Amino acid sequence: MITALLFASLVLFMTGYILQAVTKPKKYPPGPRWLPMVGSSNAVQKLTKFYGSQWKALSHLAKEYSSEVLGLKLGSDLVVVVYGDRNIRQVFIDTEFEGRPDSFFIKLRCFGKRMGITSADGPLWSLHRQFTVKHLKNVGFGKTAMEKEIQYEMNRIVDYISSSNKPITPKNIFASSVMNVLWKYVAGESIAKDRLTLLLDLLSARSKAFSMAGGWLNQFPWCRFIFPEASGYTLIRRINKQLADIIEEAIENHKNKATNNDFIYSYLEHMKDNKDTFTEEQLKVICLDLFIAGSQTTSNLLEFAILTALRNQHIQEKIYEEITRIIGDSTPCWTDSHKLVYTSAFLLEVQRYYTIVPLAGPRRVLSDTVIGGYSIPKETTILLAVGDLNFDPNLYDDPHEFKPERFINEQGALKNAEHVYTFGLGRRRCPGDSLARSFIFLTFVGILQKFKIQCVNGLLPSDEPVIGLIAAPRPYSASFVKRN
Ligand code: HEM
Repeated sequence: MITALLFASLVLFMTGYILQAVTKPKKYPPGPRWLPMVGSSNAVQKLTKFYGSQWKALSHLAKEYSSEVLGLKLGSDLVVVVYGDRNIRQVFIDTEFEGRPDSFFIKLRCFGKRMGITSADGPLWSLHRQFTVKHLKNVGFGKTAMEKEIQYEMNRIVDYISSSNKPITPKNIFASSVMNVLWKYVAGESIAKDRLTLLLDLLSARSKAFSMAGGWLNQFPWCRFIFPEASGYTLIRRINKQLADIIEEAIENHKNKATNNDFIYSYLEHMKDNKDTFTEEQLKVICLDLFIAGSQTTSNLLEFAILTALRNQHIQEKIYEEITRIIGDSTPCWTDSHKLVYTSAFLLEVQRYYTIVPLAGPRRVLSDTVIGGYSIPKETTILLAVGDLNFDPNLYDDPHEFKPERFINEQGALKNAEHVYTFGLGRRRCPGDSLARSFIFLTFVGILQKFKIQCVNGLLPSDEPVIGLIAAPRPYSASFVKRN
C-alpha cells in the first residue's frame, strides 16, 4: 500500500515537472517546442551544427516561425532573440533590459563572480563603468594623445610592411598594435614583447575555447564534473588563470612604481579610500574586460576592411584616388574622416556587411515586460540579432551587395548610418568605440596611402567569415606593393 502511494506520488510529481517544463508562459514569443530538461536546445544545437554558427541557426528559426521575436528555452533558461530595428532599439535603450544574465558562463568569464563592467549590472556596474570611462579619459583615452599613439602604431605597421619582401598575414600585425594602444592606457608603459605574444595567444585561445564549449557548459554546468576536459571547462579555467596572472603582474608592478598616467594607477589610488567596492579583484576583471572586448573586435574589423580592398581592386583604386587627392602624403588624422567621404562610407559598409558582433548582448530582463506584443518574463535572457538587421531589405537596397555608396547622400556627404549598431546603443554602448574607430580609420588609410594590396599568386582569399562569439575573416595573406 505504502509502495503504491509512493509510486503514485512519484508519477504525479514527474507529470507535474514535465508539464511545467514543457509549458510556455502566456503570450511567450513563438519558437520550437520545449522538451523536459533541454527545452529547445536540441533544435538550436542541430541547426548550429548545420550552419556552423549559432547566429545563423537562430536566424533560420526566426524565419521558420515568421517572427521578429523568437522564444526559446535553453536548458532551464528562457532566451528570447529580437529582430527588426524597433525591437533591437527598444532592448538597447530601455532600462529594464540593462541587466546581464547571472549564468555560469558569465561567472566563468570572471573567476566565478559577476564583477567588472561587461558581466555586471545594477549599481556595481554603473559605478565601475562611470569610473572607468572617466579615468581612461583623464589619462588621454579618446583624445589627441590617443591619436598620436595610434599614428605611432600605424607608422610601425607601415615600416614593417615596407621592410618585408614577403606576403603578409594581417592577423599577425593588427592585433598586437591594438593591444599596444590599449595596454598603454590601462597599464601605462609599453608591454614587453613576450608578454604581448602570450596575452594575444591566450585571448585567441580563449575565444576559440568559449565558442567550442558552445551552449553546453552554460546550459548544463554540471557536465564539467563529468567531462571537465571535453566540456572545455579545464581549458577555459587554465586560460583565465594565465590571463589573470599577466594582469596581476602589471598591478603588482604599479605598487612599486610612482607612475600616475594610466588606469591601473588611478584605480589603485581611488581604492585607498573606497575599499568596500573598489577592490583589486574588480580592477583585475575590468582590465580583462577591456582587453577581451577591445582587441580582437578592432583587429578583426580592420582585417575585413583590408580583405575587402584586396577582393575589390576597383574600390581600392577609388579609395586610393580619394586619399591622394585630399590628404596627399600627410599622416592621416581623425578629422580627415569627414573629408574622406568615400573611404568612410567604405568602412561603414564593412561594418554592415561583416557584422563583428552579430548577436549583441546578452541582456537580462529586470522586470516583466513586452516586446512586439509578446510577454517577456523577468529574468529572461535577450539576444539582439544585429547581424540580421544589417541585411534587412526594408533598410537596404540589395543588402547582399557590397556598396559603400549607400552611405553617401545626393550632396556627396556621408549619411548617418542610423541602423548600423556596430557599437550598440544606450547606457551599455561600447565605451571603446573612439579607440576602435580611430584605430581602424587611421591604420586603414595609412596602409592604402602607401601600398597597393594584391592577391598572392593570383589566389583570391575567401570572404566567408568564421563566426564564433565574434566574426573573424579566415586567415589570409596579401602582397603589399609599394606605391610611388
Ligand atoms: C570594432 C571594435 C568593437 C566592437 C565591434 C565593439 C562592440 C561592442 C558592442 C556591440 C557592445 C555592447 C554590448 C551590449 O549592448 O550589451 C560593446 C560593449 C563593450 N565594449 Fe566594445 N566593441 C569594440 C571595441 C571595443 C574597445 C576598443 C574596447 C575597450 C577599450 C571595448 C570595450 C567594451 C566594454 C568594456 C563593453 C561593455 C560595456 C557594458 O557592458 O557596459 N570595446 N562593444
